[in-house]
Amino acid sequence: MSRILVTGAAGNIGGALVSRLISYPEYFVVGVDNFLTGNSDNLPPKDHSNFLFVETDVNDFDEINDVMTQHQFDYVFHYAAVVGVQRTLSNPIGVLNDIQGIKNLLSLSRATGVKRFFYSSSSEVYGEPVEFPQNEDTTPLNSRLPYAVVKNVGEAFLKSYHKEYNLPFTIFRFFNTYGPRQSEDFVITRFMNQALQGNPITIYGSGLQTRTFCYIDDNIDTTLICLQKELFQNEVLNVGNDDEYTIHDLAKKLSR
Ligand SMILES: NC(=O)c1ccc[n+]([C@@H]2O[C@H](COP(=O)([O-])OP(=O)(O)OC[C@H]3O[C@@H](n4cnc5c(N)ncnc54)[C@H](O)[C@@H]3O)[C@@H](O)[C@H]2O)c1
Repeated sequence: MSRILVTGAAGNIGGALVSRLISYPEYFVVGVDNFLTGNSDNLPPKDHSNFLFVETDVNDFDEINDVMTQHQFDYVFHYAAVVGVQRTLSNPIGVLNDIQGIKNLLSLSRATGVKRFFYSSSSEVYGEPVEFPQNEDTTPLNSRLPYAVVKNVGEAFLKSYHKEYNLPFTIFRFFNTYGPRQSEDFVITRFMNQALQGNPITIYGSGLQTRTFCYIDDNIDTTLICLQKELFQNEVLNVGNDDEYTIHDLAKKLSR
């Protein structure tokens, strides 16, 4: 049996990942979350045979140390983070404190013999394009926003732990990912709620800005294949959808 830690387990992506992982009897999954944006409804029932939840702040070394030394995980999915455009812009120090969580998890993974460390980075690391379309091999990764800076630092820590201590890793650069567990301050959830209540949809800016949206099941299929087929070991993988919509078209589609 493989033991797997999922941080941010009560969130949108972490919750969906846990739900899929526990459908395999050969995995024992421990989920941790501090409920900053997560919700206990996103977790499996408490009596699930191959799942355990521990309320934990991963930025607190003693708390996450207890969980990691007790269970000796084979795999770690570190998905906990301060997220959301407004929340990260108005709480930059909270965002920067997530560097501590990354360091805690990596040092404990090394100490407890974790076989592979999976990390949720973000498309935000690409920052301002210097050429279009952006090229992942030549991008300067120039974003200055604390959220993106932390993701960049996280990526650098994973690569360095691999280089110095041979801790295998996979970095996922997630692009916009939506699903039923997503909190209400994200565009698809917000638009859907407004449409369902028969209210006008609030669009910021011209509405002509474009985005891509990846459904959660596609995200989970991808990350699970990486785990089970040992793909993209010590590599960075973009995970998203290449269909581009204007926000205006998205609003129209969801209203319909
Ligand atoms: N959803 C997206 O579009 C997207 C895009 C790029 C990257 N990501 C990354 O994917 C990961 C998951 O995002 P999500 O969409 O599921 O967001 P989410 O807010 O639904 O999930 C994050 C979870 O982490 C928890 N958390 C935050 N700080 C914590 C801490 N210190 N200790 C323990 N738990 C903590 C929150 O309570 C929440 O449940 C994040 O790292 C995020 O940066 C998401």
